[in-house]
Amino acid sequence: MGQGNIVILTGAGISAESGLGTFRDEDGLWARHAIEDVATPEGFARDPGLVHAFYNARRAQAAAATPNPAHAALARLEAGYPGEVLIITQNIDDLHKRAGSRNVLHMHGTLAGALCHACDHRWTAPPEMTAEAPCPACSAAATRPDVVWFGEIPYGAEVIDAALATASTFVSIGTSGQVYPAAAYAQHCHRLGAHTVELNLEPSRGARDFNERAYGPASEVVPAWVDRLLGA
Ligand code: APR
Repeated sequence: MGQGNIVILTGAGISAESGLGTFRDEDGLWARHAIEDVATPEGFARDPGLVHAFYNARRAQAAAATPNPAHAALARLEAGYPGEVLIITQNIDDLHKRAGSRNVLHMHGTLAGALCHACDHRWTAPPEMTAEAPCPACSAAATRPDVVWFGEIPYGAEVIDAALATASTFVSIGTSGQVYPAAAYAQHCHRLGAHTVELNLEPSRGARDFNERAYGPASEVVPAWVDRLLGA
C-alpha cells in the first residue's frame, strides 16, 4: 500500500444511491429545471423566491437522506490510510461528513450555509430560507444559499491547487466531467504523473485521462476499490 497523498473528487453520482438526483442523467435535475433560472446569479436576481424554493427542497431531501456504502468506504479509507486523504466534493449535501469523513472541501458550497450577498456574512442556513429574511450581521434582505452558481468562482482554489500538485493518486467518483474547473483535475494530475482512477457508472467525458477505471454503482465499485487499496 502506497503512502502518498490521495485526492478524491466526488460528484452527484456518489449520492445517487442515497436517493439524491444527479444533474445530467436522464430525469436529472437539469432535465426538470432550467440552469439559468435556479443556478446563476442572474436567475437569483430575477426570482429569488423560485431559487430559494429549489434549494429549500434540496435541503429537505438531503436532510432525509443517509450516506451509502460509497461514502462509508471513503471515511474508512481516511481512517485507515497512512497518507493524507482529501475529498474535494462538488456536492452540496453533507453525506461525506455524516459518513465520518473529516477532510472534506465543498468546492461548490453547501446547503447548510446561508450567505448575505450585501456584506458576505455567512451563517447556518435554516431549513427554509427566504429572500426577505434579514442578514444577522447587516440586516439587509439579501440572503442567498451559500452555493456556487454558474459564472461564480468555486471555493478553495488555493488548497485544491496545492493538493493536486502533490497527489500521488487522484480518484474521480460519480461525476460526468462536464463542469470546470473540476473537469480538468484528472488531466492535470495525470500530466504531473499521479496514478489516476475513475469510479463511475459509465465512462465520463475525460475517461482517457485515467490509468485505472471501474464502472458500476458507486456503492459497489468504491468499497471494492478501497478494500483493494487497504489490502482488506
Ligand atoms: N454510481 C456511480 N456513478 C453514478 C451513479 C451511481 N449510482 N449514478 C449516476 N452516476 C454517474 C453518472 O453516470 C454521471 O457520470 O454520476 C455522474 C453524474 O454526473 P452529473 O449529473 O453531471 O453530476 P456532477 O458531475 O456532479 O455535476 C457537476 O454540475 O450543475 C453542476 O454544480 C453542479 O456540482 C454539480 C456539477
